[in-house]
Amino acid sequence: MGQDFRLGYVCLEVSDLAGFAKFMTDVAGFAPGGGAEGWTAFRLDGAAARLFCREGPANDIVASGWDMVDDEALDRAAGRLAAAGAVIARDNADLARQRKVERVLATADFHGTGVELFVGQQQAAPVSLPLVEGGFLTGDSLGLGHFVLVSRDKSADIAFYRDALGLRWSDDIVMPLGPFGNLDATFLHANPRHHSLAVGAVPEPVPLRSRLDHICFEMRAIDDVGMAHARFVEAGLPIVRDFGMHPNDRAFSFYGKTPAGFDFEMAFDSALIDDATWKPQTYGHITRWGHRSESGMPSIGD
Ligand SMILES: [Fe+2]
Repeated sequence: MGQDFRLGYVCLEVSDLAGFAKFMTDVAGFAPGGGAEGWTAFRLDGAAARLFCREGPANDIVASGWDMVDDEALDRAAGRLAAAGAVIARDNADLARQRKVERVLATADFHGTGVELFVGQQQAAPVSLPLVEGGFLTGDSLGLGHFVLVSRDKSADIAFYRDALGLRWSDDIVMPLGPFGNLDATFLHANPRHHSLAVGAVPEPVPLRSRLDHICFEMRAIDDVGMAHARFVEAGLPIVRDFGMHPNDRAFSFYGKTPAGFDFEMAFDSALIDDATWKPQTYGHITRWGHRSESGMPSIGD
């Protein structure tokens, strides 16, 4: 059982930065967090920045940033990643300034998606979130939330994120995806949050829209999840999966499509894991109740 760490930030590339920034504040309910050198930052708690966005054609994740808690843990994780074949950049002061952290090492997973290991995330004045009165559930130990990466073959992601970076197995969901084969997702935790990352294999010919399927933000009040749903509807953004619950994390949530094409999941009351007693299992279904999809097609997200 490894030491706890947490998802600290996510970096995104979007094709319409001005439109996406308006969505982030007016629909998702985040606070502006300044920005520099091409990156626009957003806040949702005491951290100086939790999401970084830049303009570009990808409409996808650029990098995930992992708060390794201390230098020793960061160096140990970097050593494991290097031994597994990842190319680790040296300490980069410019990147640390951009990401508002003390120290950061950059690398990429085996699909080429950026991964940054850091310590010392800057804190800022208490955040003002007029649209999310109860605030987001992050805290010292749980981190930003979770995100889901998709590919044709998840084994390279498991080798990187579980075996080398040090995330731990929560559970799997494997279920038939119509005539195409199986949806096959593995959920991984870095701390008591049920998962900080899930990796999914999508069989051909189901299209891969982007590497990022969705990012989930957990709210402290169920009322705020309902109000976020209403803002997506009012903004004319599709509700990809309506209110519902997965069998594994047992969070109450919905999925809305962002203007960049990937989804945001807004959740409440996700399960926590105690490694001393947790028993990973494989579920054969993705929905405990609800999460009705407009297309009728289950998507890979947890
Ligand atoms: Fe999710």
